[in-house]
Amino acid sequence: MDICRIGLIGAGNVGRRHAQVLGSFPDVHLAGITDVVPEAAAALARDVGCRPFPGTGELLSAGLDAVYVCVPPFAHGAPEAVVLSAGVPLFVEKPLAATAETAERVGVQVAAAGVLTAVGHHWRYLKVVERARRLLDGRAVRLVGGTWLDKVPPVGWWPVRDRLRRSAFLLRCAWAIALMRYRS
Ligand SMILES: NC(=O)c1ccc[n+]([C@@H]2O[C@H](COP(=O)([O-])OP(=O)(O)OC[C@H]3O[C@@H](n4cnc5c(N)ncnc54)[C@H](O)[C@@H]3O)[C@@H](O)[C@H]2O)c1
Repeated sequence: MDICRIGLIGAGNVGRRHAQVLGSFPDVHLAGITDVVPEAAAALARDVGCRPFPGTGELLSAGLDAVYVCVPPFAHGAPEAVVLSAGVPLFVEKPLAATAETAERVGVQVAAAGVLTAVGHHWRYLKVVERARRLLDGRAVRLVGGTWLDKVPPVGWWPVRDRLRRSAFLLRCAWAIALMRYRS
């Protein structure tokens, strides 16, 4: 069986979820984890049975087939640049970045690297979304409404609303806007 070697950047809530799911696939080997907080990388690596690395460069030296980038919105850009310049495919958690400039810069780097990439917009794969796409196919949409009902995520950066960290609005709207664009 071919084994896919994956590295993880960002050992927070979502990084942990991905690490646990990846660890349950027989054809995936989680090769290592890095985080700007070394203790976070070490704790998650210990829990899922892999190695912590001090940085993205060192993580890549483990010989990876792909990297998962699970950092907060304001931290995107630098990790992707390092991974893409090494020509390694990447999965990135939504939203792509806190600013359009960063997202577009990463887009240019993705095109130059020519590698496979994906974003964590997994709602696209819901049956109800498939159904809505079929029903709306060929029809002009005139109004879209949406309501988000959820609890506040347990992350310190969530309520911070400066220019680079408009977390609540950005994170929730990223879902809604991505779904609206997906149907068209
Ligand atoms: N697809 C989904 O369903 C889903 C659900 C929740 C959150 N998310 C997204 O996942 C991302 C992470 O959310 P979270 O709840 O795990 O946040 P978190 O704060 O719990 O974890 C983020 C981790 O990234 C680390 N980090 C920050 N900058 C870094 C860098 N430059 N290099 C390496 N590590 C760095 C932090 O130290 C932290 O451990 C957010 O963008 C969020 O929108 C996606």
